[in-house]
Amino acid sequence: MTAVKPNTLVTALKLGLRSMRRHPGLALMFLAATLSQGVLQGLIVWALREVLRAFSSGGVSLAALTLGASLVFGIWLLRAFGTFAGELLSVRLARRVEIDSMQQVLAKLLTLSVRFFERSSQGDLVMASYTDLQGIRSVTLHVGTIVLSISRLAGLAVVAWLLSPKLALIGLVGAPLGVVPVYSLGRRITAAARRAREATEKLYDSFLQVSSGIKVIKVNRGERAVLEHARTVGENLYRNLVRDARSGLLARFSLEAVAGVGLVTVLMVGGRDVGRGVLEWQSLLGLLIALMAVYAPTLNLVTVYASIRSVIPNLDRIDAILQALPDLRDAADARPLPAAPRTIELQDVSFAYDDGDRVLDGITVTFHQGETIGIVGPSGAGKSTLVALLLRLYDPTSGRILCDGVDLRHIRHADLMDRCAIVLQEPFLFVDTIAQNIRLARPEASLEEVVAAARAANIHDDIMRMEHGYETVLGRRRDGRGVSVGQKQRIAIAAALLKNAPILFLDEATSNLDSVSERAVQGAVERLMAGRTAFVIAHRLSTLRAVDRILVLERGRIVGLGSHEELLATCGLYRQLWQSQSFDKAPGAMAWAGDA
Ligand SMILES: Nc1ncnc2c1ncn2[C@@H]1O[C@H](COP(=O)(O)OP(=O)(O)OP(=O)(O)O)[C@@H](O)[C@H]1O
Ligand SMILES: [Mg+2]
Repeated sequence: MTAVKPNTLVTALKLGLRSMRRHPGLALMFLAATLSQGVLQGLIVWALREVLRAFSSGGVSLAALTLGASLVFGIWLLRAFGTFAGELLSVRLARRVEIDSMQQVLAKLLTLSVRFFERSSQGDLVMASYTDLQGIRSVTLHVGTIVLSISRLAGLAVVAWLLSPKLALIGLVGAPLGVVPVYSLGRRITAAARRAREATEKLYDSFLQVSSGIKVIKVNRGERAVLEHARTVGENLYRNLVRDARSGLLARFSLEAVAGVGLVTVLMVGGRDVGRGVLEWQSLLGLLIALMAVYAPTLNLVTVYASIRSVIPNLDRIDAILQALPDLRDAADARPLPAAPRTIELQDVSFAYDDGDRVLDGITVTFHQGETIGIVGPSGAGKSTLVALLLRLYDPTSGRILCDGVDLRHIRHADLMDRCAIVLQEPFLFVDTIAQNIRLARPEASLEEVVAAARAANIHDDIMRMEHGYETVLGRRRDGRGVSVGQKQRIAIAAALLKNAPILFLDEATSNLDSVSERAVQGAVERLMAGRTAFVIAHRLSTLRAVDRILVLERGRIVGLGSHEELLATCGLYRQLWQSQSFDKAPGAMAWAGDA
């Protein structure tokens, strides 16, 4: 993963500003509404003082009083409306930013390689899609709060200055002093928030595992362990959340304490001035009101600061995702792959996952168009990995894979994907209707085509027995329906049939079928393979009846390549596998043993 520079207060604010720039109209209205409040806040204090002044100089005329009061009320109302409009606009702006960022993050995730997802926990991705994005929302909002607070502060400071420059200075001099502890507390907030994020991620993981592993948990009575783990992580989360909040509150407290000193000093010095007749008491009163009013936006600023400090870890994660380089980018000169390649050639290909041992080791082999290849070997030999490399889900650690002489790295990956269909060992279906799942690669396919594919995959009858037929929604949802793994595999086979791609990968595609269904699907699979370049991984050698050549892998190396008969004669491992399966009671295996 690329190292991403951690966010700071400044970069967080820049991010907020950038988000605003993406919605200039909303942002401008928001800022205007917000700014007006600051000015109006100052005006209220000023108007109050004028009214008080009128009281003491010319006696109180009802007309003057009414005028003054209306003036104050008018400004007050205007300010209240400014708050309403500002808040509403801020919600719109912030939610826009959040939803847009989600789209951006998802779009980015879809460009990242399989590797990225192997390294990220599910909990982490749930955090990124929700909690972390709230961080972006809140920094956007905070930019508004900062503008508002500063504008109010400025308005009030100007008024205080006009009333008495000396006292204004005394009253406000404390503020900078309060900033020092606030800053150091901010670092603690970020540290606590970072640990809280890690704990939350683990908790999400626990919940997600309860969902996917509930059967295993129940049968092995793993409830206590799950609860115990969640309790430990939860305690950790609790501690860090409290730490985070406490540092924020402490920052407020220290600022308020300093502010109190300022206020009392102004009262004393100002009181003395009034006593000496240097200052009107109305001015002192106005000044005190202004100073007290100053503390509200100042405290807001501190709260905002604490909040930004606590979302920095979330911003960091979003940054890391957005800046992650897809590690399998197309080369700049990537070529299209207009049709099925005539040859697929592996030249001394070796591969290791991350820093692990070699999973594939010096594989050199050439496949030809229209050829069907069986891939066999013990579990963990590297069969699925070989297929993943042919699909360029990973690049070889060394060596090259060539399509018609062109390195896969120089072929547009999207084109390669268009030419390939795949049925996986662990079939995956979307929470959607069966029809849509079969249409996966060809959303425009007609229902007739879908049905034809389903028939060929021997799943049509199963589908018709379901209440909603092809419109049955699959998956974990209240209105979703479960299907067996074998049914899932046949739906995946139907989707591959419909995709009609020239290169086909079947990774244990029929391993979850009983022998009868397997033989029925086998017919479909053989029809599917006809005329295509097909790679078929199978543990049950009986399913490889129709393939042209069989590749035998053992611990990442090729130990045999040829027809069934050739391998029986030359490859010890193959003979061993074959003999062990010929004694199986599986009727499929016996039948073929009889044929051979
Ligand atoms: N994502 C991964 N990260 C790290 N190591 C992996 C990963 N996937 C597989 N491996 C390792 O690579 C080796 C080969 O795995 P692979 O899945 O290719 O085996 P296979 O031949 O398909 O086995 P099976 O018949 O059980 O499906 C194994 O030792 C496995 O532990
Ligand atoms: Mg496998």
